Amino acid sequence: MTVQSRIEAVSPLDDDALQTALDQACAQVRRNLPAFTYRAQNHSSVGNFYPAVDNDQWTAGFWPGQIWLAYEHTQDPVFRHAAQIQVQSFLHRIENRIATDHHDMGFLYQPSCVAAWKLVECHDGRRAGLLAADQLMERYRPVGGFLQAWGAKGNPDEYRYIIDCLLNVPLLYWASEQTGDASYREVALTHTRTTLAHSIRPDNSTFHTFYMDPETGAPSHGATKQGYRDDSAWARGQAWGITGMAYSYRYEPRPEYRDTFDRLLAFYLGKLPADLVPYWDLVFTDGDEPRDSSSAAIVACGLLEMADLVGGDSAETWRDLARRMLGSLARDYAVTDPDVSNGQLLHGTYSKKSPFNTCRGEGVDECVSWGDYYYLEALTRLNGGWSTYW
Ligand code: GLY
Repeated sequence: MTVQSRIEAVSPLDDDALQTALDQACAQVRRNLPAFTYRAQNHSSVGNFYPAVDNDQWTAGFWPGQIWLAYEHTQDPVFRHAAQIQVQSFLHRIENRIATDHHDMGFLYQPSCVAAWKLVECHDGRRAGLLAADQLMERYRPVGGFLQAWGAKGNPDEYRYIIDCLLNVPLLYWASEQTGDASYREVALTHTRTTLAHSIRPDNSTFHTFYMDPETGAPSHGATKQGYRDDSAWARGQAWGITGMAYSYRYEPRPEYRDTFDRLLAFYLGKLPADLVPYWDLVFTDGDEPRDSSSAAIVACGLLEMADLVGGDSAETWRDLARRMLGSLARDYAVTDPDVSNGQLLHGTYSKKSPFNTCRGEGVDECVSWGDYYYLEALTRLNGGWSTYW
């Protein structure tokens, strides 16, 4: 079966089904408000139910992002009120640097606080977003030209960046626009250039993480943390690469970003099973390994973003593909019964332990908070007229 015939075999989400899916997702956000207005959602569900936790994980921004999307869809002020309570928690977190010494400032602060600024001119949201951008700038390593993902800054054992960070760099573009200070943008451009130079293999698959030489800044080697093994393509990493290129293209319409988007997408599509939702690593193309539904939701957002930016025939192709991916997610992965789950999208995978990777096994075949968020973002995009939080 060709890639194209596999895609065409999946029915697209039609407009009625889109409205139903959006209404169901917003109803689920509403049901979750009592438990999570003053608390954060865990990064992943446990038995398909998210526990409430403190606001100290890298994933905490995705739940308030869902609240803002529900506010946009319904215009119900109850959502705005809850999201603004969350903004105060995020402002407190960055002012006090609570669990912020890592690179995930965009994931944390764009769907929560930058969204608050863009949607309702919340000045605390803007302030928190700019403080987060400053924190991210501190992760920049001039020797090698990249944003260090994890660990103590400059630690030779942690001298690496990861492909996921392409979704953190839009915060830097936004900070440059807000402040007029070009240094944020320059770091975003340099980090992206480094990523494109080293993280993409000749076959257009991607390394999850990439080490640089701390003395010389020369590229050292790729390695995985959450993928199956060092030379495989972690499904979510490939999705972060695709959608990272699309989100950066809005700020920097460079031909190499568009070209990289095309190449990473082509590899990804070639590895999808019949329902267009990948296994957790693209080394698996059939069998019983868990899926990562969040990867499909992330890619749907990237397709719809790039379609808005470039127009033309490619845009129609990408919109059609996103509709089919979302059709599959809405029919077979979305939560429609709150007794089954308090999440949005079943069958995500956070970190599956393999004999070759270095992650802790957690959140396997569960809802994952970014999967829920990007599913709702993709539905909102498909509905039309959405202005990005990123
Ligand atoms: N950014 C970490 C992950 O996608 O699991």
